[in-house]
Amino acid sequence: MENKVTNRIYLNNDWLFTENFSEELLQNDYNTEQLTLVRLPHTCKETPFHYFDESVYQMVSGYRRTLFAPQDWQGKQVLMTLEGVAHDSEIFCNGKGVGVHHCGYTAYTVDLSKYLNYGAENILVVKVDSRESLNIPPFGFVIDYMTYGGIYRDVYLEIKNPVFVEDIYVHTDLKGNFSNPMPEITSEITLKGIPTEPLIIKQRLYPKGSKTLLHEHSCKTESSSIFQISYTTTQPVALWGIEQPNLYELVTEIYYENTFLDSQTITIGFREAVFKNDGFYLNGKKIKIRGLNRHQCYPYVGYAMPQSMQELDADILKKELGLNAVRTSHYPQSHYFLNRCDELGLLVFTEIPGWQHIGNEEWKNQAVENVADMIRQYRNHVSIILWGVRINESADDDDFYKRTNEVAHKLDPYRKTGGVRCIKNSNLFEDVYTYNDFVHDGKHPGCEKKKAVTSDINKPYLVSEYNGHMFPTKVYDCEEHRLEHALRHATVLNDIAGEEDITGSFGWCMFDYNTHKDFGSGDRICYHGVMDMFRNPKLAAAVYASQQEETPVLELSSSMDIGEHPGCNRESTWIFSNADTVRMYKNEYLIKEFDMKTSPYRHLPHGPVLIDDYIGNLIAEKENFKPKHAKEITQAMNLVARDGLNNAPKKVFLTMAKILLLYRMKFSDAMHMYTKYVGDWGGEATVYRFEAVKDGKVVKTLTKMPMKQLQLKAEADHTALTEKNSYDVALVRIQVLDENSNILSFYNDPVQLSVEGNIELIGPDIISLQGGMGGTYVKTIGKSGSGTLIIRATGVAEQRIPFMVTATNKE
Ligand code: GAL
Repeated sequence: MENKVTNRIYLNNDWLFTENFSEELLQNDYNTEQLTLVRLPHTCKETPFHYFDESVYQMVSGYRRTLFAPQDWQGKQVLMTLEGVAHDSEIFCNGKGVGVHHCGYTAYTVDLSKYLNYGAENILVVKVDSRESLNIPPFGFVIDYMTYGGIYRDVYLEIKNPVFVEDIYVHTDLKGNFSNPMPEITSEITLKGIPTEPLIIKQRLYPKGSKTLLHEHSCKTESSSIFQISYTTTQPVALWGIEQPNLYELVTEIYYENTFLDSQTITIGFREAVFKNDGFYLNGKKIKIRGLNRHQCYPYVGYAMPQSMQELDADILKKELGLNAVRTSHYPQSHYFLNRCDELGLLVFTEIPGWQHIGNEEWKNQAVENVADMIRQYRNHVSIILWGVRINESADDDDFYKRTNEVAHKLDPYRKTGGVRCIKNSNLFEDVYTYNDFVHDGKHPGCEKKKAVTSDINKPYLVSEYNGHMFPTKVYDCEEHRLEHALRHATVLNDIAGEEDITGSFGWCMFDYNTHKDFGSGDRICYHGVMDMFRNPKLAAAVYASQQEETPVLELSSSMDIGEHPGCNRESTWIFSNADTVRMYKNEYLIKEFDMKTSPYRHLPHGPVLIDDYIGNLIAEKENFKPKHAKEITQAMNLVARDGLNNAPKKVFLTMAKILLLYRMKFSDAMHMYTKYVGDWGGEATVYRFEAVKDGKVVKTLTKMPMKQLQLKAEADHTALTEKNSYDVALVRIQVLDENSNILSFYNDPVQLSVEGNIELIGPDIISLQGGMGGTYVKTIGKSGSGTLIIRATGVAEQRIPFMVTATNKE
């Protein structure tokens, strides 16, 4: 009896690459010296950070490697899965075509068994077409994101017995019991190689990462290739939710008599996610979906990033931005990302590839196939709550969208469909009306009413995008601009929170991204993110981060340098915090304790608050005015502080005249007071200190004063690098700060990067910080041991980040 479970054998190493595929590549005796040795995930072209043309990655490239097939694979099914190849690909084994795939965002599996020479080396070749002239989604017209190319996700082998489990689709039903649920588990199992005799199926359920058996079930199959088993657990389970994302492992084994044939382990979670007409309910509780859109791209390497970098984005969304949801715009993304969403309790709206354009019949057939592939490949992810089955922002096409909905409902009767539109009242075959609401332009309300948009008021409604192109914002834009960007996010989020029948929203978007010539700022970047391309936060990130309760947030929209503003008028300065109150001290004198509940963004748990006082009781205490007059002067000076003398209302001048007369003051005395209490000119540097107070305790402080010294902050997301299925990569976010850890938003100077030991850099070794921020990636090179990243910039001490690499990656 063979009871070994066939693990995946990753084929991510030892590929030889050429930018020019030719038929000769298939030949045994091809001279491979001219090829480049690469590892997967791989991009067919590394790109500059910006200012490059999308033609650079458009090519028909080739990947070739040898594969030794041991004798004992003979008689088995040797399956090779490619998780993601952008965009059209063809696989060859020993010169013969074994499969094609016409989608750059879904996986596919080919059966190599018939083509292999056992006990010998074999030649595998993948022809990859990354040209945008392809007649498949998303191509055909313009696209607001770069599409890149290459074998950019994992490739692996599985060696199976002739009868094996091809697919398991697990559905769980809580039956409305959220307090002590004993769910019904239904598995639809698809076997490959139709069994002639009944087989024995065993299922076991464990809490993820534990050996404590929770439930066991065994039964016999009928002699058909697809069958269902269903049972109710005898013990209660812990639910999956956004706060406690409990996961379980369901192990399925199949036996013929006593002979083990195959096994599959699936991670599942128990939850009830329901879109209702009046909102979204998770485990019976109404919650507002609060998410951002995420592209799967990175600087320099496009789509090609390994597990750790995929997971990191989910971590950032949940932990740094405090979100409960993400939309994988505009295509299915890496399972590593989705697995992490499962683990973190991050709700996911995932959709088929496409952008506005609908092609001919052949193109549409491929899109329908993409729906089927997406659902089959992703439906066990507990985090997914909605399928997007329309081409993002496309026009109505009833026959086409009836088909996509039918396929989705057939393959997953339990999850709802949506389909992202930018048109109102369009024909609705989906369960949820999902709409990109760009009505907010700084003046108009944050969102439309549901009834103004949807064609069926009785179906749920979700805002799938807002902001984005309405207000592109660079990290080095002036303060006013960055503030406006943040406040626009706050306005939309607030207005949506105030609409009871909007299930939630996904802002555009998580981070800036490289895009086609038709979009963006001319440098092939869309500056639409609440973070930059290296995932450094813009001010708008604080709007999201401050809505969560776990981590204290305290941000200010200004460095408090008045010269940054036109006419040296401060205009509006806002506090972003999830504290109860924020105390503002000027030179250690308490000016005001701001009650964060007074935020005009009253539907938000923690809306921003405007600083309306820079003086407090200073004038009353330090000058010789009657209390009444001191108050009037303070009010007048606060108005001047914000908007300048030219824009001050009449009452300011009246107050001034009155005070000058009453106290026989000269105009220069008034100016002196202004300089002293508002202008911050001369004398000792003005120090503004802020304390965020929660439950009576100071949880975070922030100090703003003229900088004297620079410091370099370079932090790797992880320094213990591990090669598991492939190379590992760490993101190093680099920021230049003042001595109080404030980002120096106009530090755009060059930074020099170098490495020692067992790591290499991705991208250039000289970069310019932008808005005091930037980043780099370090990558393992297949060797265990230490490595160091050295970062140098003008005016700061050199920084060295040590890494430790464990390379256990063996094929
Ligand atoms: C939407 C589109 C997104 C992005 C965004 C920019 O229309 O769906 O992909 O282009 O606009 O705001």
